[in-house]
Amino acid sequence: MTHARQHLVQVVAHRGASEEAPEHTLAAYKKAIEDGADALECDVRLTADGHLVCVHDRRVNRTSNGRGAVSALELADLAALDFGSWKSRDEEPDWEHRPQDPEDTSVLTLERLLELVADAGRPIDLAIETKHPTRWAGQVEERLLVLLKRFGLDAPQSPDESPVRIMSFSARSLHRVRAASPMLPTVYLLQFLSPRLRDGRLPAGVRIAGPSMRIVRSHPAYIQRLKQAGHQVHVWTVNEPEDVDLCVELGVDAIITNRPRAVLHRLGR
Ligand code: G3P
Ligand code: CA
Repeated sequence: MTHARQHLVQVVAHRGASEEAPEHTLAAYKKAIEDGADALECDVRLTADGHLVCVHDRRVNRTSNGRGAVSALELADLAALDFGSWKSRDEEPDWEHRPQDPEDTSVLTLERLLELVADAGRPIDLAIETKHPTRWAGQVEERLLVLLKRFGLDAPQSPDESPVRIMSFSARSLHRVRAASPMLPTVYLLQFLSPRLRDGRLPAGVRIAGPSMRIVRSHPAYIQRLKQAGHQVHVWTVNEPEDVDLCVELGVDAIITNRPRAVLHRLGR
């Protein structure tokens, strides 16, 4: 986590600057970089023809003008869809930086996102979440590592040096990543706090906990236990000023937010 050393709390743009621009589009990530985010978060899924694309839901229905499961569609099918106009249809009538370039609201491949980060002109970390990895029995992680290798990001010298980290709700997915690339940091995501995790232990080999803001609000002592156990804590999704303040008070290491500009402002940056 390269930026945690520069700032006390790393600000991570969740699906890009996804409050202001359509999630997981180039427009949303460009906006996050422009806003000064330290890192970008994205979800990845495999298309029917084996490409990793940045889409949150199993189906494209909510965030595009198409229908169907990502896993049943080829990249060319997805490339024909518009991933931008739902934002104006369902949310704000005018989002601030409506892009002119169709690429900015097309389906975003992980490869294109890696290029954007490489060309950003300043160091930016990337938090990549594997979605539904069990369905593909290892293929998501395999493709992910092949792609990271192409960008020289698959085998960092140490986890602390890595600009990329892999997140998942699936301990098995994280295990596959570490088995192939032991120095890549992994983040175990938690939506609810199950009794077996309350002592602050994480699945073997995992360095970073990724609790929901709901857990942080209801179990602040758990966050302290994680820190005492030597883990980093990356919290999602932190959009309200009072939640930002609570995260800072508890000493979390990264705040994952749809509003990077507002959070940076709250942190006095
Ligand atoms: O950053 C973790 C968070 O994104 C997990 O939840 O549903 O937004 O992918 P979700
Ligand atoms: Ca995610």
